Amino acid sequence: MKVLAPVPPMGWNSWNSFGWNISEELIKTTADLFVESGLKDAGYEYIVIDDCWSEKKRDADGRLVPDHTKFPNGMKDVADYVHSKGLKFGMYSCAGTHTCAGYPGSFEHEYIDAQTFAEWGVDYLKYDYCYKSIAAEGANLYRRMSMALRSCGRDILFSACNWGSDNVLSWIRSSGAQMFRSTGDIQDKWSSIKNIALSQLNNQPYGGPYCHNDMDMLVVGMHGNSDNAEVVDGDKGGCSDVEYKTHFALWAIMNSPLIIGCDIRRMSDNTKEVLMNKDIIAINQDTECRGPYCIKQWNNPDNVFALIKPLSDGDYAIGMFNLSDNRSEMSLQFYDIGLPATAGRALRLYDCYSHSEDGVYEDRYATYIEPHDCKMFRARVVKL
Ligand code: GAL
Repeated sequence: MKVLAPVPPMGWNSWNSFGWNISEELIKTTADLFVESGLKDAGYEYIVIDDCWSEKKRDADGRLVPDHTKFPNGMKDVADYVHSKGLKFGMYSCAGTHTCAGYPGSFEHEYIDAQTFAEWGVDYLKYDYCYKSIAAEGANLYRRMSMALRSCGRDILFSACNWGSDNVLSWIRSSGAQMFRSTGDIQDKWSSIKNIALSQLNNQPYGGPYCHNDMDMLVVGMHGNSDNAEVVDGDKGGCSDVEYKTHFALWAIMNSPLIIGCDIRRMSDNTKEVLMNKDIIAINQDTECRGPYCIKQWNNPDNVFALIKPLSDGDYAIGMFNLSDNRSEMSLQFYDIGLPATAGRALRLYDCYSHSEDGVYEDRYATYIEPHDCKMFRARVVKL
């Protein structure tokens, strides 16, 4: 078996923008656009079909059946097409008797379903938690599907999705899963982005190579254009370009998988710039996958903070975030990150948005950050 997910997986998932409204054509077009738009070259690899892809009943042999109207040529055909573009193919099932949208779940069908997914050429399985039997222990159900996938004869990345419940942090790595959802569903709203990010600041020690903390799919570029009423609760939402920039930076430095959720047929230039910022992606994809620590701004500790992440080439990623609604000071004292004034050294900062050197700073870096905005640097210790 190949070792999967040494660094956070990158890809696209149908749920945020399309919900039930998915089809063979949508997935194939998305695969085409992955290549044409540069997403593939930027590192995005998995194209994942979420809920609502199957018929409501299994066949006479107990196998899952793709929806005949949405996927008239079956899933192997879709997988072959995605693979022909040099990409990987993901699908979705659930640890319960039914998926969240009411289609058949894999409960007590784990091995036959893993076999079916392997035969279709699936490379990634998202595994949800709706309609879980109260008689079954959640951890055991994830171990079960993990074992079924690990023995099915194909490398299939296992993406657990139990929304952070049942103390998932304490057992998910040992289940064999490569990523795990740690929160409820994201919405295309600033408040949702902010709440998810704040809720995971203390959970950074739990992710790492081969098992990553999934803060849910990105809403970057959705601009309230979801077809998925379930996700947005009737409120179409939408964020500003600055908010999407900050959302992406948070997910990147906090080592979340980067799974795009917008309709990539409609990406604006700004959306492309955010999603394909190579300097930000490099911070997320760093080999060591060290979760950042947090230094809070003394006069606004709940909303303004810096995240510091050691990188494998000796640099440090430094993200500065202002999640408040007012312009705010952010001053990073270098002694707080391991560099006292007496060290005879300074930090050379490279700006990940202008893609150029910002300057060499001694003792501290102080700046103002606009509401909901951020800065992201790659820092290197240099001798004075
Ligand atoms: C939720 C899950 C979402 C999506 C949805 C499908 O439980 O968190 O990401 O997969 O189910 O019904």
